[in-house]
Amino acid sequence: MYRYAAFVLALAFVAVLQQSHGTEVNVTDSKGKLCLYANLMVNFSVTYEITGNKNSTVEFQLPAEVKSNTSECGATSAMLKLDFGEGHSWSMNFTVSGEAYQADVIAFSYNLGDKTTFPNSASNATSTVSMKPHITGVTMDTCYSCKSNVMFESNSVNQTLWNVLIQAFVSNGSKSDRITSCSADVPTTTVTPTTHAPSTTTAAPVTNATTTAPPTTTPTPTLPTPSVGNYTIKNNETVCLLASFGLRIGVKQGDKYEEMNFETNGTTANGSCGVDSSELELTSSTVVMMFKFTNDSKKFRLHALNISGTTSSGVFVGGNTNLTLWEASVGSSYMCNKEQNYTISSTLTLFTFDLQVQPFGVKKGVFSTAEECFLDSDLSFLVPIAVGVALSFLIILVLISYLIGRRKSRTGYQSV
Ligand SMILES: *[C@@H]1O[C@H](CO)[C@@H](O)[C@H](O)[C@H]1NC(C)=O
Ligand SMILES: *[C@@H]1O[C@H](CO)[C@@H](O)[C@H](O)[C@H]1NC(C)=O
Ligand SMILES: *[C@@H]1O[C@H](CO)[C@@H](O)[C@H](O)[C@H]1NC(C)=O
Ligand SMILES: *[C@@H]1O[C@H](CO)[C@@H](O)[C@H](O)[C@H]1NC(C)=O
Ligand SMILES: *[C@@H]1O[C@H](CO)[C@@H](O)[C@H](O)[C@H]1NC(C)=O
Ligand SMILES: *[C@@H]1O[C@H](CO)[C@@H](O)[C@H](O)[C@H]1NC(C)=O
Ligand SMILES: *[C@@H]1O[C@H](CO)[C@@H](O)[C@H](O)[C@H]1NC(C)=O
Ligand SMILES: *[C@@H]1O[C@H](CO)[C@@H](O)[C@H](O)[C@H]1NC(C)=O
Ligand SMILES: *[C@@H]1O[C@H](CO)[C@@H](O)[C@H](O)[C@H]1NC(C)=O
Ligand SMILES: *[C@@H]1O[C@H](CO)[C@@H](O)[C@H](O)[C@H]1NC(C)=O
Ligand SMILES: *[C@@H]1O[C@H](CO)[C@@H](O)[C@H](O)[C@H]1NC(C)=O
Ligand SMILES: *[C@@H]1O[C@H](CO)[C@@H](O)[C@H](O)[C@H]1NC(C)=O
Repeated sequence: MYRYAAFVLALAFVAVLQQSHGTEVNVTDSKGKLCLYANLMVNFSVTYEITGNKNSTVEFQLPAEVKSNTSECGATSAMLKLDFGEGHSWSMNFTVSGEAYQADVIAFSYNLGDKTTFPNSASNATSTVSMKPHITGVTMDTCYSCKSNVMFESNSVNQTLWNVLIQAFVSNGSKSDRITSCSADVPTTTVTPTTHAPSTTTAAPVTNATTTAPPTTTPTPTLPTPSVGNYTIKNNETVCLLASFGLRIGVKQGDKYEEMNFETNGTTANGSCGVDSSELELTSSTVVMMFKFTNDSKKFRLHALNISGTTSSGVFVGGNTNLTLWEASVGSSYMCNKEQNYTISSTLTLFTFDLQVQPFGVKKGVFSTAEECFLDSDLSFLVPIAVGVALSFLIILVLISYLIGRRKSRTGYQSV
């Protein structure tokens, strides 16, 4: 056990060491608080003209030593600008859009007058290429992470980015531990496959690329049953909330509907337990779900659910703060093993599998007696029987009242 832990630690250490070869910068605001964090690696390949009307290609890396003091942090826009070498710079512009942020443009300027980097260069000019990265829908207060190689090509410059960890719009002065991964890093089991084509947009003259294949034909694949995750929240070292379920989320974005399984591997659970309200927040690499349970001292229920995340078509955010789901007595747990679907909002549907939750009154860290949903109950077969019995009663009642009525009317007739 200890040896295993040591091994994991060693691995983590190696990973940290490898990571630390990147270019790391902490951009601070006027008050000295961290507002933009970046750790990344970039390889450049630049073709330039040399004397004698010939071209030459050089390859170099973004150095570890860069200056970032011309970077800018705003409330809704920010710029990471790394100045290095003899007048070269690399920048990335970010903007906030809704509950997420994105990188709009990468600009790389290189000074051909730097004769050590560009030997025999025919020009002294500074050239700039800009390109549009596919970095969108990064949830606010999370780092964008992309370990995979992502290449951007243009006529004269190719850039390869990897081991990228960036957080723009840092809110409380420290880098978030939460991550929004790029699609290249996410195994393609959950979301419908995204073709991650590197963009090749060059600088100013926007020449229309030859018609690229339309990427919007995604036949909905039949998803496997989602894996069941077990989540616990502790209050002062004692378990106070238990949840165990497999989840699938149905998202409508525009006229596209997509379903994805909520990944349990690597998912973290946070939350809190109160007297009359408890919260559970689940964060996977692509989705954040926030469950709020309330109780009126007799019964508890799921009262609010907010979901945000990314699909292949972009960011989604939605929820409902007026739900009454998963209702059971306080001191027991709610259970529903059969697959269920719940309409959360006009754009969100939640599917549950092997569900059991207990947001209040957990004893000894285990679920209390379960109150099962109707569909699970063995008594559900009684429904047709009950209906039949009720109908028979009704018929008998009608019959009796008919008989009584006849009798009454007869006696009435006789009395006259
Ligand atoms: C950035 O800040 C982190 C945390 O404070 C620190 O560990 C790291 O060394 C800093 N990096 C640079 C390049 O200043
Ligand atoms: C980046 O460049 C370095 C040396 O120039 C090379 O060792 C490395 O393989 C390159 N990485 C990528 C992803 O191109
Ligand atoms: C050099 O490269 C430019 C594009 O970067 C190209 O237009 C030009 O024809 C090339 N010149 C030679 C001599 O290959
Ligand atoms: C990036 O942002 C800075 C400041 O916000 C702005 O001056 C610059 O023009 C932007 N660059 C691009 C390529 O949009
Ligand atoms: C580039 O600058 C050097 C020195 O500053 C100068 O000698 C040379 O003529 C310049 N070349 C061009 C093409 O402007
Ligand atoms: C960029 O990459 C493409 C494809 O790999 C290659 O054909 C081209 O020569 C490269 N250009 C530069 C400047 O390295
Ligand atoms: C580029 O494409 C857009 C729409 O696809 C079109 O409106 C525009 O005229 C095109 N521009 C050029 C230069 O072909
Ligand atoms: C979750 O808990 C159940 C019951 O305690 C157990 O059978 C199952 O293996 C657990 N699943 C995981 C992923 O830990
Ligand atoms: C947490 O538990 C410790 C020891 O069981 C106890 O002394 C302390 O008061 C508890 N704190 C709270 C906030 O319940
Ligand atoms: C969970 O993720 C780890 C690392 O990302 C991987 O090695 C492991 O196989 C995954 N487990 C499952 C059950 O997918
Ligand atoms: C919440 O839902 C109930 C019935 O489902 C409805 O009567 C009530 O008006 C709703 N409240 C809000 C704030 O939407
Ligand atoms: C939701 O469940 C109902 C029955 O419980 C079923 O008829 C319906 O098709 C389900 N909806 C989806 C989108 O699976």
